[in-house]
Amino acid sequence: MIEIQNREDLICENVGRDAMGALTFAGQALAPLAKTYGTPLYLYDEDRIRLRMRAYLSAVEKAFGGRGSVQYASKAASFKRIYEIAAEEGFGIDVVSQGEIYTAARAGFPLARAYFHSNNKTDADIAFAMDKGVGTFVADNAEELYAIENEASRRGITQRVLLRITPGIDPHTYAAVATGKVDSKFGSAIETGQAERICALALSLPHVALAGFHCHVGSQIFDASVYLSTQKIMLTFVRDMYKDYGYLARELDLGGGLGVRYVKDQPALDIEETLTAVAEEMKKTCASLGIPMPHVSFEPGRSIVADAGMALYSVGSVKRIPGYKTYVSVDGGMTDNPRYALYGSPYTVLPVLPHEGAEREECSVVGRCCESGDILQEGVSMPADLCRGELLAMLTAGAYQYAMASNYNRIPRPAVVMLSDGKATLAVRRETVDDIVSLDV
Ligand code: LLP
Repeated sequence: MIEIQNREDLICENVGRDAMGALTFAGQALAPLAKTYGTPLYLYDEDRIRLRMRAYLSAVEKAFGGRGSVQYASKAASFKRIYEIAAEEGFGIDVVSQGEIYTAARAGFPLARAYFHSNNKTDADIAFAMDKGVGTFVADNAEELYAIENEASRRGITQRVLLRITPGIDPHTYAAVATGKVDSKFGSAIETGQAERICALALSLPHVALAGFHCHVGSQIFDASVYLSTQKIMLTFVRDMYKDYGYLARELDLGGGLGVRYVKDQPALDIEETLTAVAEEMKKTCASLGIPMPHVSFEPGRSIVADAGMALYSVGSVKRIPGYKTYVSVDGGMTDNPRYALYGSPYTVLPVLPHEGAEREECSVVGRCCESGDILQEGVSMPADLCRGELLAMLTAGAYQYAMASNYNRIPRPAVVMLSDGKATLAVRRETVDDIVSLDV
């Protein structure tokens, strides 16, 4: 009799176990997928992505009564299929580079619904985005604003623009993803007067149509009060710009950042609850400031795709160094997921087979790059009889993994496979060594 693993360890309801106790994802067995597509492999539960997108859209609809919209922050996972899904679900997108714009365009995404971010858009980026008809530019700084004005003027168009504002908020997340503090490289700070100056500048430029303000205070945020403080600061800024310049912002974009559950001691945030709390607070703030409620937009990335993803690896070796450590080496590593190496990000890593009754030992799951820091996760409890050729699954692996993959050590990047309705479809084929060498002249 196989004891089914405590559901809690499986983190998310699209991860389960079959009758033999083997792990499943989106209702599908993992061994046949590994056999067909090879490992390492990224799997995406397409229905989960759609579910998350719908949750955001209905939450915005309920909380803001039609005066809200959602853009998927496509830096979290960018490939054609994701943009097709976003288009089908009526989502907007946030793009940050020519590569993301081009991928979205190739997927047939209606780019009028795209918001172009980044703290340093080159002249070529600006021209490229205008060529492709990107609807909204989120301008980061004065130089960029002038460059947008010049290109728009040259084309005889008026470009819709939001200004990225730094509210001076510490989102209490890890440093690399905290962006709302005054000393951030992103945006113009209210505290230093730079936000007001860039607003005045935007209003003076004839080919810039200022639609409102944007902020994004950070990522992997669990504390909803961060958004409550942010909206207050931003709406106060809206009121001040109205008072001082007679300019009433029509749109306020509060960015993304909702936290997701990578390990069982992290909470699973409820999207609707969080957005409703923000909406309630915004209504109160607007009433006390005497301004109308602007159109509100959100830009979630991680919370759309993270738990829709799983990474599959094959074990190569289990190296026990008596008195020290056990290393489980897999056929991927920091090249397909640099997040532990960069941020020490926690993950749930499980063997696909059940290993009922086996002794457990603490391991470091490491990759195959020539680098000691090539670690996928430390302190992982693994069955002591784990052996070469077995599959390991990393849960909640859909955000900032494929997107941040590299070819370090000239390792080809894994394939991406979409799972839906019991079927598997290749979305991105596995790179080959020929792909890698093809750029060398
Ligand atoms: N909007 C803007 C302007 C952003 O910069 C970001 C993320 C988002 C929205 C989406 O945030 P999300 O909902 O995904 O938290 N590589 C890091 C994450 C970097 C986040 C960059 N900006 C990681 O792997 O944790």
